[in-house]
Amino acid sequence: MTDQLTVATADDNAAGAAGPTPWWRDAVIYQIYPRSFADSDGDGIGDLPGIRSRLPYLQELGIDAVWLSPFYASPQADAGYDVSDYRTVDPMFGTLDDARELITDAHALGLRVIVDLVPNHSSDQHEWFRRAIAEGPGSPARDRYHFRPGKGADGAEPPNDWQSLFGGPAWTRTTDPDGTPGDWYLHLFAPEQPDFNWEHPAVADEFRTILRFWLDLGADGFRIDVAHGLCKAEGLPDAGDASELHLLDVAVSPCFDQDGVHEIYRSWRQILDEYPGERIAVAEAWAPTLERLSKYVRPDELHQSFNFSYLGAAWTVEAQRRIIDESLVAMRSVGAPPTWTLSNHDVVRHTTRLMGSVSGDAAGRRPTAADPVAGLRRARAATLLMLALPGSAYLYQGEELGLPEVIDLPPEVRQDPAFHRATGQDGYRDGCRVPLPWSGDAAPYGFGPEGGPSWLPQPDSWAQLSVAAQDGVPESTLEMYRSALLMRRALPALGAPDNLTWLEAPEGLLVFERAAADGSAFRCTVNLTDAPIAVAKPGQALLASGPVDDAAAQVLIPADTTVWWSVA
Ligand code: NOJ
Repeated sequence: MTDQLTVATADDNAAGAAGPTPWWRDAVIYQIYPRSFADSDGDGIGDLPGIRSRLPYLQELGIDAVWLSPFYASPQADAGYDVSDYRTVDPMFGTLDDARELITDAHALGLRVIVDLVPNHSSDQHEWFRRAIAEGPGSPARDRYHFRPGKGADGAEPPNDWQSLFGGPAWTRTTDPDGTPGDWYLHLFAPEQPDFNWEHPAVADEFRTILRFWLDLGADGFRIDVAHGLCKAEGLPDAGDASELHLLDVAVSPCFDQDGVHEIYRSWRQILDEYPGERIAVAEAWAPTLERLSKYVRPDELHQSFNFSYLGAAWTVEAQRRIIDESLVAMRSVGAPPTWTLSNHDVVRHTTRLMGSVSGDAAGRRPTAADPVAGLRRARAATLLMLALPGSAYLYQGEELGLPEVIDLPPEVRQDPAFHRATGQDGYRDGCRVPLPWSGDAAPYGFGPEGGPSWLPQPDSWAQLSVAAQDGVPESTLEMYRSALLMRRALPALGAPDNLTWLEAPEGLLVFERAAADGSAFRCTVNLTDAPIAVAKPGQALLASGPVDDAAAQVLIPADTTVWWSVA
């Protein structure tokens, strides 16, 4: 019987004949959502000192880097993705010294730190936007954003038909200093998030200095928010059919994926390359095709791009194999590593999402109530499949505990701005942002001081999912993640480069092998059906997402189960 085995840590990334692989080509990067990770001061909101205190946990987990969602000064209209000062830490999260010390401590533990950069829009409380409003129509301060007169005789209609991703028009009308209705400004997200005008040289200059500010502080890279949105089509033409924007199914649109963004990223790459230590940038770019996505990671642009097509793929052999192949081909065409993600702070956690139905909720947004046991089983299988793939994997805090989406949050505690704008594409994002359970029998489960608050309520059932409850329990999800991450480092076949060979397999089973330069081979078998599938035992079982009896020459791979094998 094998479930989870532990192997000794070997050298860092496998070194090919051409020398050591840059760390980011096969890194496992763990997303921290600061307000929900660990609360050091008992105000119910997580903070930087809280993260700092938990770094040893992350080191033990076996990740290579953390990505921190925004912790900058912000009115929190969109949980920090509305930045009012890009060089300041919001007091809710700590101070700049806390950020510096967090980076220093992380480095001492061998962990890299990636920070979030929000260049598409600022907060409406950013100094530039306040000046733009105060100085009125025609002022140069307005040129750094998109202000336009409205349509119609009295300008009462928005300048074009663009819709906000959070619902409603992407334009809000201003009031002139004399109290009369004035021009409109563009916001692809909430009205509190006005879009920058990237045609204005001051915007580009400002962001280059912001990059340098965080690089000088020691940041190892950036996650670029809405990386496909910075440039808009000239003249801001109507979007027509594409006006109902949805991130996962973006059609060609005048708001997104305009060719002008690439020049920006080329200039950023030059800055990153000036710094020692392989600093990186990863694009949050919802491009319409993988081919378009690959343009963001050409050799002189960004290093990685999130692969949302993979996140949205159905749990079937055909869909998984197709998206894996397409991703490998697209990224190989530009020499970039593929990336894989199953969960993040914007989508329904994969423990819940994957159990909705065989086809799943492709957009990964709407939570569904279904069998939690089957959901966790499938999520664990999906995780081991993902971690066996070539390239880099992104984990979202709490997935290593098998946390489900919280689907019954009462409306009065919800804070996602899209929830309150009923027609928006999202509005369900609070359910994946509930603070983590660390220990204990009662909320806040070690997230903050005993008896203290948490900004979103944690379910009663989370006592059994806490870190303390799973620590050292061989069959727990936490121990499965630890074993898998340890093996990724130890097994040469699981590092870069990106070779992967599909093998013939019975229906419902996905089987692939990866070979290492030293001749060792690794095989991954994934049962994507609801019934066990028999296979000839291919070698020594290393790790499995559920109990597997591998004593005989024929092995039954249980329903929704992944097994890792070492093959001679
Ligand atoms: C993508 C971020 O992940 C999301 O949380 C945010 O609401 C939007 N960008 C707007 O910044």
